[in-house]
Parts: sequence; structure tokens; C-alpha cells
Amino acid sequence: MRTEADTQSLIELEQQYSAHNYHPLDVVLTRGEGPYVYDVEGNRYLDCLAAYSAVNQGHCHPRIVAAVQEQLGRLTLTSRAFRNDRFGPLCQKLTKLCGYDKALLMNSGAEAVETAIKAARKWGYECNGIADDEARIAVFDANFHGRTSTIVGFSTDASSRGGFGPFAPGFDVYPYGQLDAIRAEFERGVGATTCAVLVEPIQGEAGVIVPPEEFLPGLRALCDKHRVLLICDEIQSGLGRSGALFAHTLAGIRADAVTIGKALSGGVYPVSAFLADDAVMNVFTPGTHGSTYGGNPLACAAAEAALDVLIDEDLIARSRDLGSRALTKLRNASLTGVREIRGAGLWIGIELEPSAGGARRYCEDLRARGILCKETHEHTIRIAPPLVISAEELDEALATVIDVLSA
Ligand SMILES: Cc1ncc(COP(=O)(O)O)c(C=O)c1O
Repeated sequence: MRTEADTQSLIELEQQYSAHNYHPLDVVLTRGEGPYVYDVEGNRYLDCLAAYSAVNQGHCHPRIVAAVQEQLGRLTLTSRAFRNDRFGPLCQKLTKLCGYDKALLMNSGAEAVETAIKAARKWGYECNGIADDEARIAVFDANFHGRTSTIVGFSTDASSRGGFGPFAPGFDVYPYGQLDAIRAEFERGVGATTCAVLVEPIQGEAGVIVPPEEFLPGLRALCDKHRVLLICDEIQSGLGRSGALFAHTLAGIRADAVTIGKALSGGVYPVSAFLADDAVMNVFTPGTHGSTYGGNPLACAAAEAALDVLIDEDLIARSRDLGSRALTKLRNASLTGVREIRGAGLWIGIELEPSAGGARRYCEDLRARGILCKETHEHTIRIAPPLVISAEELDEALATVIDVLSA
């Protein structure tokens, strides 16, 4: 067992030898199992972040680990120059589960979003009569779609984009949750050169922002009217986190294309995907897009097992039921300094009043009491445990959260 001094020295190594592009809590983890993680000193924590919803299936799920271990000894990477025996079966499972004709596999979430942007533009030129290099994509303020230079170019968060310009043109930012502005611009003629609307059905990094009920159906109708693709970024909201396979279906709509990542591999290996029907996906032809590691056999083994766990353990219904229980408990508690509690499934944002002095200190308090949460932006605590958490474990965690927020 390591000591507190070891924790300090490991933090110092990180500080000295790694870029300071994160501000982590000062806990050094060494092991994870189900909803729990353990630090190097042997302390146990309930993980209420789940690696930004990548670990929906719980840490080191034995079925996913076994599938990856088995694959590791056999074949890990072929590149797509050759075919591998795990790729087709995974694409079949994924598309059947999600209800799209085809999947294009990448690695990180940002790459799936880049794939969506490329697909939408090419579709706009080849299938929708938009003149070369004129295609526009509508996005929303407070969006988070990843960290590439194109993607941060249409972020409205100063710390994500500041200092990284010049940025790629062709993106229009509209107010999230409000239909009037985007509708008016589309009517004004912007709709004619717009190839896609790219939207998070619930904004995760912005603090679990659930848009008004009419927002997504309104976007769907607008896209239909102007023949524009509706692309939902479900990288954080998808695969059970919101209490549905995809959060956008909670609004009763179907997106033309979807990006997924994170929980697609249960936190074991980076796997992401762009899902669409043939009319969109067929714009990609040999040589137009790709990734050396995208769709490799190890990734496919991880993703296949992760999807099986999601379905076999009924994690989507679990997220829905435990999430509504958690939301009710938190809303019924008399908390101090809380402005709003939002959520869908096991995905809850507790936004504090600015007078509460920021969410960080509450996350530090929770850490001291065995719960790992992370502030998102300055004033919101996000609670998103692995979906395998039991009702008792959740109740215990909520009691602690309520206690910390009542002080
Ligand atoms: C909605 C959404 N899109 C894209 C991404 C980027 O994913 P990655 O960090 O795997 O590139 C994230 C990450 O948090 C996300 O929440």
C-alpha cells in the first residue's frame, strides 16, 4: 500500500512531466471495480463521474475485460487495408441496436464528430445541391463536441477556443433551447446552404442542460422543411446515460445521423462511431475518410462486449428508474445555495447559486467523504455514476450529497 507521501510524489511527477491541461482532484487512483475506484492509499470512492459517462457499464466489467484479453492474444490491429473478423459482426450489432443502416468506426468522440461534419458537407454538395465550399452547419451556444481545432472553432467557451484560431469557417451558432432564432435565419435563406444541424440532445459539459420539450421536435421539423440533416451528438448522452438508448428519442424524434463514443467500449478502449443511413453514409468512398486504428479488432471486441453488457444487464431501464428516484430525492431535499437541479436518467446537474462560492469546494468535500464528483464549469456539480450502481449505493451517495449541500 502506498502512503500519502506517495500520493504527493505521484502528483508532483504529473505536474512536472505533463501538460497542465486539466485541473484534477488530488486523488491518485489505481484500481476500479463496478461503481467503485480505489486510490493508491487504499481508500475507496464511489465514482460519480464515470469518466464523463464512458464507464456506464462500471469499471473493469469482467465480460468486457475478458473479451479484450481474449482478443489481445489473437489479433489487435490490421488497419482497414485488410479485413478483420471482428469488424463486420460489430457493425451489424451496432446498427441493428441503434436502427441505422451503417456505422463508421473511429476512436475518440471528437473524431466521430469530425466524421459527421465531413459526411454532412459531402452530402450537402453531392445530394443536396449546395455549391462547392458553401455548406454551413448550425450549432448551438454552450456546445461541447470535442477538442479538435475545427470543433473548438465553433465553441462558445472562451477557455476552449481562446488562443487557438484561426478557425474553420462554415458554422453558425444559435441559442440552445430556443427555436425562434434558428427558424428565422433559416427562413431568411440560411437554410438553403445549411447541410446539417449538429446538436447535443442534452448538453453534458454545459451542466446537464435539458432543452425545453418543443426544442428537438422543432429542430426536426425545421430540418425536414429545409432538407437539412439533423445530427445528434450522443457521445455523452447516449447508450443509456439519459435513461434511453439515445436521449433524442425521449423527445419522440429520430435523428438522421448520430455520433457515439465513450460508453461504446465501457471505458476499456477508445471506440467511437458515426451512424447514418445509406443515403448519407454512401458519400464516403474508398480513400475519402479513415483512421489507422478505427475499427480495429481489439476495439470491436471491447465494443461488442460493452453493448452486450448494456442490453443483458438492462442498464438503460436501470438508468431511467434510478435516475428518476435520484432526481426526486434531490429535489425534495432542502438544500442551501442550489439554483436548479436538472437531469435525465442517471445524469444529474446540480447548479449552485454564484453566492455558494463555486462547485469545486463541494467536490472536494464529497471526495473527503468517499464520493468522486467533478465540477462542470464553475457552478455545477454533475452526478453521473456507472449505471451498474445499486439502489442502496445510490441512496447512500445521495444522502452524502444532500448532507454536503445542506451544510
Ligand atoms: C457531447 C460530446 N461530444 C464529443 C465529445 C468528445 O469526446 P472525446 O473526448 O472522446 O473526443 C464529448 C466529450 O466529453 C462530448 O461530451
